Amino acid sequence: MACQRTILTVAVVLLLLGAAGRKAAPVAAQSGEQDWPAYGGGPEDIRYSELKQINRSNVSRLEVAWTYDTADGPGDPQTQPIMVSGFLYGITPRHKVVALDAANGKQQWRFDSGMSGRGPNRGLAYWSDGADQRVFAAIQSYVYALNARTGQPIADFGKEGRIDLREGLGRDPEKQSIVLTTPGIIFKDLLIVGGREPEGLPAPPGDIRAYDVRSGRLRWSFHTIPHPGEYGYDTWPKDAWTYSGAANNWAGMALDGKRGIVYVPTGSAASDFYGADRTGDNLFANSLIALNAASGERIWHFQAVKHDVWDRDFPSPPSLVRVKRGGRMIDAVAQTTKQGWVYVFDRTNGKPLFPIEYRKYPASTVPDEVASETQPLPVKPAPFARQLLTQDMLSHRTPKVHEWAVERFRTFRSGGQFLPFSVGSETVIFPGYDGGAEWGGSAFDPETGLLYVNANDLAWTGSLVEDQGGSSGRKLYLTNCANCHGDNMDGAPPQIPSLVDLRGKRGPQEISAIIRQGGGRMPSFPNLRSPDVTAIVQYVLSGENKELETTGSSPVKHKYRFTGYHKFLDPDGYPAVAPPWGTLNAINLNTGEYAWKIPLGEYPELTATEMKNTGTENYGGPIVTAGGLVFIAATNFDKKFRAFDKRTGKLLWEATLPLSGNATPITYELGGRQYVVIYATGGKAGRQKPSGGIYVAFALPKRL
Ligand code: HEC
Repeated sequence: MACQRTILTVAVVLLLLGAAGRKAAPVAAQSGEQDWPAYGGGPEDIRYSELKQINRSNVSRLEVAWTYDTADGPGDPQTQPIMVSGFLYGITPRHKVVALDAANGKQQWRFDSGMSGRGPNRGLAYWSDGADQRVFAAIQSYVYALNARTGQPIADFGKEGRIDLREGLGRDPEKQSIVLTTPGIIFKDLLIVGGREPEGLPAPPGDIRAYDVRSGRLRWSFHTIPHPGEYGYDTWPKDAWTYSGAANNWAGMALDGKRGIVYVPTGSAASDFYGADRTGDNLFANSLIALNAASGERIWHFQAVKHDVWDRDFPSPPSLVRVKRGGRMIDAVAQTTKQGWVYVFDRTNGKPLFPIEYRKYPASTVPDEVASETQPLPVKPAPFARQLLTQDMLSHRTPKVHEWAVERFRTFRSGGQFLPFSVGSETVIFPGYDGGAEWGGSAFDPETGLLYVNANDLAWTGSLVEDQGGSSGRKLYLTNCANCHGDNMDGAPPQIPSLVDLRGKRGPQEISAIIRQGGGRMPSFPNLRSPDVTAIVQYVLSGENKELETTGSSPVKHKYRFTGYHKFLDPDGYPAVAPPWGTLNAINLNTGEYAWKIPLGEYPELTATEMKNTGTENYGGPIVTAGGLVFIAATNFDKKFRAFDKRTGKLLWEATLPLSGNATPITYELGGRQYVVIYATGGKAGRQKPSGGIYVAFALPKRL
């Protein structure tokens, strides 16, 4: 059967080649063809494929079918490509868009907007109506509609082929910092988007917006910071909608196309760690919102963190799953969190399918800060990451390291989740700011009801300090940059680079451009005036601390600021908590029990000693197939791409990538052959390590 299908498809392809040459128009899916047409595999975002040509019995024979080196970088693009009708669409580290022949990796077209992007650009959206076939790609604050066959912008979409996300937010577009790091989702003729925004004020409001896929016209907006008269308005100070920001969707969404409901998880409001100017619960920050996809009207919502002051964004797209309850199948939505939890709701009405308890937490001791008295926790499934850091959990890598860790740990406040930060001492965030779960999302297997979640299991710390304000280079640095790069500019590598040795590596103009454009997790700073930027650049490069006359930066002055994302690492740079430092989990959503849990990732140099199978930090998600396999790369340091038996977690295959695969793979069938593609980029391996962008496709040998 498989053989016959292959012959048929080959015949079709040959016919097409004869008729139109290599650049044949994409054709409708044939038998022997299975696309991966959307981020997450499809609108339900479960990263599941029915393909089983590659399966438990033969996966060990996988080999590289083709590679495509974008010859671009460095960067951390995190892209999960899409594959439609034989075209694989991807993004380069500096945000050029490419279309490849999905059978052999040959470039079909490459679109250069003339602008260079940096950092995450996790995917693309595809829409078609007959011959009108479009790919939507985000570059800086724009979303382009490209002709899927030629890569040319579609002239009558927006303004000359693109829309500007800074417009239509009710604020001065020139001063907004917003980029689409996770692609929008398509519902009929709508492109629904969120956006990545700054973690501190000023930040745009996190409106969820739907644009007409043909014209680029804005069709609806949902205000995650409600305007007067809107539901949830009373959970903020009365003018907050005019000055507060974020409560944005940066992690992606899922769509129930039949019901016409889009599920939108949001992040915290700005500023992340001090909320005196946003007293109240702050709906719809940190919420899973079910919206009518046609109109943007709210159907139900669940707020997971009230008045977030820990940056506990929902970090992953939700998964639209089906679970068994009392012998009945229920259409549900599963949402993972940075804290290591999974919430499961009835998709239609938001009713929790495992109990949720509202527990009491301590009050804040920071002046003017009012933390919420209670927060909701799911009683089941058990968390997939550790929750409360205690002395017995510290690293024993060497006796000296342990001693060092104990000494540091004694200076921390460790109280589990939702202990408000304090001024002057470090509070433990465990799992860390990045989670727990992350942007790679989870995979769900409809055959078994198992949800696959990879997680980080590291401790970080954070604290507040009085913000002196002011307008010298150093003060502007402290107010705008130190929350990430640290008071001493040492950052939190590899996620946030140190700026200590910048001189010689980057010139003043380059640094100004980075401040203007942002990159990765770094926002742009459109509110900083030129003299502010110059003063900061001078300070960063030379320590020169020039006083300015005035500053035009933030409209909101905070009394306290965050002193930086401090990862709790030992003096050699390894996590100061005991392993596992990263895990892969299989959770049965019917019962809430774990089917299996394994460490994920290794440090090659530790493996060479006796510390094997520690698990490591990992970014990028899993996929699951009917062939019985879970594919995942994600690990930061060992460059491995692995396949596990989805029932047992047994490792069945692994390959070493040219760079670490900090992205989510895809799988598709073309010409009767199943491929698995991962984007190897190395963006999280550390600044000293090479990074770039190489798409690597695996398949079974042609003759088995
Ligand atoms: C929200 C966190 C955050 C804030 C705030 C932030 N940065 Fe960054 N910064 C980052 C991250 C993450 C990167 C790495 C980006 C990448 O890889 O493209 C970065 C990169 C940089 C780089 C490039 C470093 C290199 O070695 O390539 C410079 C320079 C820089 N930031 C300066 C600043 C300055 C100056 C400010 C304040 C005006 C600032 N940053 C504010 C997170 C932040």
